[in-house]
Amino acid sequence: MATSRTNDGQLSLGGLGVEQLLHAAGVSTPAYVYDLDAVGREVKELSVAFGDSPHLVAYAVKANSAGPIVRAVRDAGGGADVVSGGELALAHACGIIPDKIVFSGVAKTDEEIDRAIGTGPAGILAIQVESVEEISRIAKRAERSGRVARISIRVNPGVDFEALATHANIATGHDEAKFGVSLSLLDDALTEVKRSSFVSLHGISAHVGSQLTSTQAYVASATSLFSIAKRLLSDGFRLSFVDTGGGFGIDYGAGCSVRPADFIIALRDAKREAGLSALTHVVEPGRSMVGAHGILVASVLQSKIAGQRRWLMIDAGMNDLMRPALYQARHRVVSVANEAAPAIDVRVVGPVCESSDDFGVHSLPERMTGKVALLDAGAYGYSMASVYNGRALPSEVFVSAGKVTSVAPATRVEDWVSDRLSRAIVQ
Ligand code: LLP
Repeated sequence: MATSRTNDGQLSLGGLGVEQLLHAAGVSTPAYVYDLDAVGREVKELSVAFGDSPHLVAYAVKANSAGPIVRAVRDAGGGADVVSGGELALAHACGIIPDKIVFSGVAKTDEEIDRAIGTGPAGILAIQVESVEEISRIAKRAERSGRVARISIRVNPGVDFEALATHANIATGHDEAKFGVSLSLLDDALTEVKRSSFVSLHGISAHVGSQLTSTQAYVASATSLFSIAKRLLSDGFRLSFVDTGGGFGIDYGAGCSVRPADFIIALRDAKREAGLSALTHVVEPGRSMVGAHGILVASVLQSKIAGQRRWLMIDAGMNDLMRPALYQARHRVVSVANEAAPAIDVRVVGPVCESSDDFGVHSLPERMTGKVALLDAGAYGYSMASVYNGRALPSEVFVSAGKVTSVAPATRVEDWVSDRLSRAIVQ
């Protein structure tokens, strides 16, 4: 949790009181607020954990694609893991060099493949292929553009989500997932690679799932990846990296005993013992880089009491922060003002016309008015926001060195109306 309380009990982030920074930014609620310095520190902490082992912290842009966040990652030496042509263009526009970009995803369009091949003088570090079939598609696109596409095979190490202890929707490395090339098809993939001189195999990758709160399954997956890499090197493939994916968990309030750096430290010896010291170790963290460093601030609109039931209606909804509705995720909700008043349990809900627009029961001051903050909302918050119910996209405020450094104002309702009206061109 990146927030703390000022001497007079106000919630603060990045050294600034939340009310004060919203005022300085000139925005109202709902608003996301992020601590940019903390994002840079996350990159650096991982780099320190790698020691002198060559590495790349490829930030999973999907977690939060705001320009100031991606630039903070770049400034701290990080790269990017992208999953669409849009994210690729964004990472590049934020100044991340192509050699630090990997492109994952099970279903890439021809345009996206072309963009990956065509970015920079030699294309990006790797297009991570997720099926045998994709390899010949990429080879054809590379041949058309007269380039050699650098690829990596993303294998599916067969790790079950029960072993990962995470939500089934965000576990990706199990046998029935649509992601990755299953181990039984790896040889077919290698045959396909050898068939074309327009693709060259630079890496081997895996990503088992998200919000991992122990290193166990990650180490199991990475160990299997290291032995594959060792075999490929002895088969004559000139690998330059091994990518063990992202997934480092954060503490949403229920505890998380591992730090992101622990995942790296747990793998250092295994990588060296596999004879892979010269290979760059790529990781793809998203959530752990920004999750705890952003909050969603909302205003209380009203309360509603019906018998024993007490609701607190706020102006942020599931369209602003979808994780509770989608994964039954729990984000702590706290008062922005001093919490001295006696607290009661209330069910905090948003304005969207869906029963799942519900942030759960929280202990908040009785007769609560003013503002609340939903904590640990920096990752998969704004990036998954929508305009459902004709709602605006929330504001975003970025804080660094104790001051507001940039502001992305909320979209305007008028823009939504004209978008819905004017983009449908009458034929
Ligand atoms: N690499 C790949 C290939 C991925 O699919 C993902 C996340 C990551 C890296 C980054 O994982 P992270 O370090 O953030 O755990 N919307 C969900 C999370 C979906 C994760 C999808 N893939 C949530 O809000 O919990």
